[in-house]
Amino acid sequence: MKAVIFDLDGVICFTDKYHYQAWKALADRLGIYFDEQINNRLRGVSRMASLDIVLERAQQSYTQEEKDAFAAEKNATYVELLQQMSPADLSDEVKETLDTLREGGYRLAIGSSSRNTKLILSRLGLSDYFDAISDGTNITRSKPDPEVFLMAAEMLSLPPEECLVVEDAKAGIEAAHAGGFRSAGVGEASEHPDCTYPIAHFSDLKTILL
Ligand code: BG6
Ligand code: MG
Repeated sequence: MKAVIFDLDGVICFTDKYHYQAWKALADRLGIYFDEQINNRLRGVSRMASLDIVLERAQQSYTQEEKDAFAAEKNATYVELLQQMSPADLSDEVKETLDTLREGGYRLAIGSSSRNTKLILSRLGLSDYFDAISDGTNITRSKPDPEVFLMAAEMLSLPPEECLVVEDAKAGIEAAHAGGFRSAGVGEASEHPDCTYPIAHFSDLKTILL
């Protein structure tokens, strides 16, 4: 393998709590039940597909225009919360592992559904770190579709067989498998039958790759 394509949220950093707070604020305003379990289902899922999951509990249906406004409202809250992030939110384990893989000759890329990828990378001090960034702004189909990873591989000019995908979401493991990539899964992703390398810690990537 020549490159590693990392999912962002839940792999490089932990934005779950901010997504939760932002969706919860919207759901509360609309009088819709929302909890951490529902939030877990939003992992790896695009913003609009996440909204559809949040609205499953709604007592009424909404027009596309209203849904667009809800998604924008949630994102404004989320972006505000992201201002709390700083390079201190990048763990020593993640930074040390990334640096070691890079020294080992691997090219490193991001493959994330988030349209806020570049903002989050800048909050973490990683704006110029990766060799390629494929994110929610350059895809039309969200995970479990492999598009975001295929685009990352294309940006690196490498075939999927030469790239390892690192994921925390089951939808991400499915996307990797569908695109012909091997995958390393942390958390719930490690339990997916299509996960090539279930790992307990991010630093275990060094054992797989070096
Ligand atoms: C993924 C997250 O990385 O990005 C999802 O796991 C999120 O929870 C998705 O819905 C889209 O994020 P954004 O930042 O474009 O709203
Ligand atoms: Mg993720």
